Amino acid sequence: MINLVIKKQDELFKDIAQVYQEQLKVKANSILGLATGSSPIGLYEELIKLYNKQEISFKEVITFNLDEYCNLAQTDKNSYFSFMQENLFTKVDINTQNTNFPPTDEAKISEYETKLQENIIDIQLLGIGSNGHIAFNEPGSNFNSTVRIVDLDEKTIQDNARFFTSVEEVPTQAASMGLADIMRAKKIILIAIGENKAEVLKEIFANDEITNKIPATLLKNHPDVTFYVDEVAGKYLK
Ligand code: GLP
Repeated sequence: MINLVIKKQDELFKDIAQVYQEQLKVKANSILGLATGSSPIGLYEELIKLYNKQEISFKEVITFNLDEYCNLAQTDKNSYFSFMQENLFTKVDINTQNTNFPPTDEAKISEYETKLQENIIDIQLLGIGSNGHIAFNEPGSNFNSTVRIVDLDEKTIQDNARFFTSVEEVPTQAASMGLADIMRAKKIILIAIGENKAEVLKEIFANDEITNKIPATLLKNHPDVTFYVDEVAGKYLK
């Protein structure tokens, strides 16, 4: 069952930041699965505020990011590596040696998978694509999938073009954690913000169906998952 919280954005981010604060109080060396995209930015801002007030520390935290574009240098402003430096890592006391990103080099993929299997994630953060993807597990992804290089869906390329100067510049492939990797996490937090997530959320909550046509429906099988949805994205939900 998916727990659902629908609130104003700022309240949502405060609620989620509190979950992280409690987690890190109990286990300072928690393993966090992190996400990129516009949805988690407000959460990262809240976490930075807590850090500045000395109410949270990331000193011992270990992180694993969900995904990374292929054929973009790490230093490119659109790489998810750059995103994490800019929106969180350089603003808190994390040891960057404890931060991990999926390699876009096929030969190194299995190392990331092994590391993930040895480090069970305490809280996995997710966004959601307007097509129901989680990480870059696009519609049609296998429920047993692990870390791999994937071809991006046409819808994803269109959605993510807003960060690039033209749609032609959006990478067509990415390295992504698989659905099996995500489901292994002890707790899952999914953030959905904005109008363009309303339709897919409506479909997910319409019934009990689990289908890889909407990869996020697989989360219905997870024992501890909460969707944090703003009022616009949740307009069709009760
Ligand atoms: C990308 C990422 C996903 C993310 C999704 C939604 O495609 N690979 O992990 O959840 O975008 O992004 P946004 O929050 O910007 O809508």
